[in-house]
Order: sequence, then structure tokens, then C-alpha cells
Amino acid sequence: MLRKNTLFISLTKVSLLVASMLILQACSNGIDVKHRDPDTNRWYTLAQVEQGGKIFLENCTSCHGVKAQATKKWRVAKEDGSYPAPPLNGTAHTWHHPLNMLKDTIKNGTKRGMPAWKNKLNEQQIEATIAWIESHWPEKVYQAWRKRH
Ligand code: HEC
Repeated sequence: MLRKNTLFISLTKVSLLVASMLILQACSNGIDVKHRDPDTNRWYTLAQVEQGGKIFLENCTSCHGVKAQATKKWRVAKEDGSYPAPPLNGTAHTWHHPLNMLKDTIKNGTKRGMPAWKNKLNEQQIEATIAWIESHWPEKVYQAWRKRH
């Protein structure tokens, strides 16, 4: 009997711990993606889009294209076996990823050719860049992303 109770208590503790970790994780990016800015009707402001556009132009267009369109052949491997940068404009799978994951990819890069930017761009600049990227997403894609995350 005693044993059963102890097991029950530790299970409760574990689920509380998991629940609080999930809540912390949800808050950790400090951005509420459900927020609607009065100008954009999205989580970001027009000022962020403007700032992000400059950052993107300076750092990202060489691979992702001036309108984040990259190439339609992003699924086809290049001769050296590596893959081209994907479009970020809503036509590929960027909208499958929550904000935290997009931030993480930009900060730390990936093994498949995305450089890391954490030594060059700060948190606020990265958020502005994502705002500019998402400003290229059609409403349908944005709403699908917002619902999913
Ligand atoms: C040297 C080329 C290159 C540059 C410059 C570059 N990227 Fe990338 N980026 C890539 C490649 C290649 C991938 C795909 C990586 C993978 O599949 O692991 C990628 C992936 C991404 C993704 C994830 C897309 C998705 O759908 O999962 C984001 C977001 C992104 N880049 C944003 C940026 C931003 C913002 C900048 C500028 C600050 C930038 N990239 C600069 C090559 C580049």
C-alpha cells in the first residue's frame, strides 16, 4: 500500500515537472505568436519587418534570394551532393517550424550548409529577420503556422 502511494506521488511529481517544463519552453522565446499587431495583424511590427529586410539583404540573399524565394529546385541535390538553400517565402517547409526552431537554425546553423549567425546577429535582429521572412508568407500560410504552433 505504502509502495503504491509512493509510486503515485512520484508519478504526479514527474507529470508536474513535465508540465512546468512545457510551459517554460512555450514562454522562453518571449514572443506570443498569437498576438496581433494593429498594423500587420501578425505578431511582428512594421518596424521589425523594415529592420529585418536590411539584415536579410546584407547577409542572406546570396543563398536564399532577394525575396527569400531561393530556387524552385531546392529539393534537388547539387553535383557535390549538398542541397541548395530552401525558399523561406512560404513555398517550402519553413512554416512547419515554430519560432523557437527558426531562431535556433539561424543562431546555430545546420550541418547541411546553413551558416550560424549567433556571433553576428543578436536576438532582436534575428527576430526582426524572421518578421521580414514571414511578411512574405501569404495569409493562408501564416494562419496555418500560427495555428500549428
Ligand atoms: C551560405 C548559404 C546560406 C546563407 C548565407 C544563409 N543560409 Fe539559411 N540556409 C541555407 C541552407 C543550405 C539551408 C538548409 C539547411 C538544412 O536543410 O539543414 C538553410 C536553412 C535556413 C532556414 C531553415 C529553413 C527551413 O525551412 O527549415 C532558415 C530559417 C534560414 N536558413 C534563414 C537564414 C537567414 C535569416 C540567413 C541570413 C541571416 C541565412 N539563412 C543565410 C543556406 C544559407
